[in-house]
Amino acid sequence: MTYDGDWRDTFRPDIPTPARIYDYLLGGKDNYCADRAAAEELMEIWPEMIFTAQANRAFLGRAVRYLAGEAGIRQFLDIGTGIPTANNTHEVAQEVAPGSNVVYVDNDPVVLTHARALLVSGQQGHTSYIDADLRDTKQILAEAAQTLDFSRPVAIMLMAILQHIDEAEDPYAIVGSLLAAVPPGSYLAISHPAADIETEAMAQMAERLNKLMAEKVTFRTRPQVARFFDGLELVEPGMVRVQEGRPASEIEAKSPAALWGGVGRKP
Ligand SMILES: C[S@@+](CC[C@H](N)C(=O)[O-])C[C@H]1O[C@@H](n2cnc3c(N)ncnc32)[C@H](O)[C@@H]1O
Repeated sequence: MTYDGDWRDTFRPDIPTPARIYDYLLGGKDNYCADRAAAEELMEIWPEMIFTAQANRAFLGRAVRYLAGEAGIRQFLDIGTGIPTANNTHEVAQEVAPGSNVVYVDNDPVVLTHARALLVSGQQGHTSYIDADLRDTKQILAEAAQTLDFSRPVAIMLMAILQHIDEAEDPYAIVGSLLAAVPPGSYLAISHPAADIETEAMAQMAERLNKLMAEKVTFRTRPQVARFFDGLELVEPGMVRVQEGRPASEIEAKSPAALWGGVGRKP
């Protein structure tokens, strides 16, 4: 099945979305038959796909823990929130550093309906949600400024989202405009499905996803993902497979996940 309209115009449980497929892969229940069928098709192509979703989520948690801990960040702009699950950005950040403020952004209507679960405000910090598209950085930055102080460092989180912006839409310019809005000492954290790990399976999965979903995907190579960090100082261990980014255990480090990930600091 293909769908050429704007799937956000009306709620369409019959068209798989990235947020709902990902929710299914993570063992969530906020997904529909079409999402489950799409995820099962992906796992037929590459059964280890499920570990990629889990490793991505684990990397997100470790990145936030590093940013709120060692890096001393207290403000997070998390674009591509996903349906709330375990270890959401505000939970990890506010556990490490109470008083951290988090702004979530997503364009999926189902994520919006679940956003209330993310909106925790009190002594532990403030959390808000923006219903917006990553392509509209002006809207995101204007609305985020109601919660975040852009004269102080901010961590921009783009976890497993940039694959939805193709080359023609200039993802590098989008990331550049977000980075231009934050001061030195800010951070960028990215995870991105790889085109050069499990090359054949990943190419087949991209092709299948682009037939099934209205939101298209472009998987990228390590140099293409590293380019998002141009002008930034990459934090150790640099641009690596996400499972090798400060893994909590040897088992975690050995996950077969096919994603590149890194954290960079704006000098
Ligand atoms: C694979 S999920 C990743 C969720 C979370 N960042 C994580 O890594 O666990 C991708 C999320 O990005 C959102 N998304 C995709 N394209 C987007 C866009 N253009 N603007 C805003 N959100 C988008 C999807 O709705 C989905 O919730």
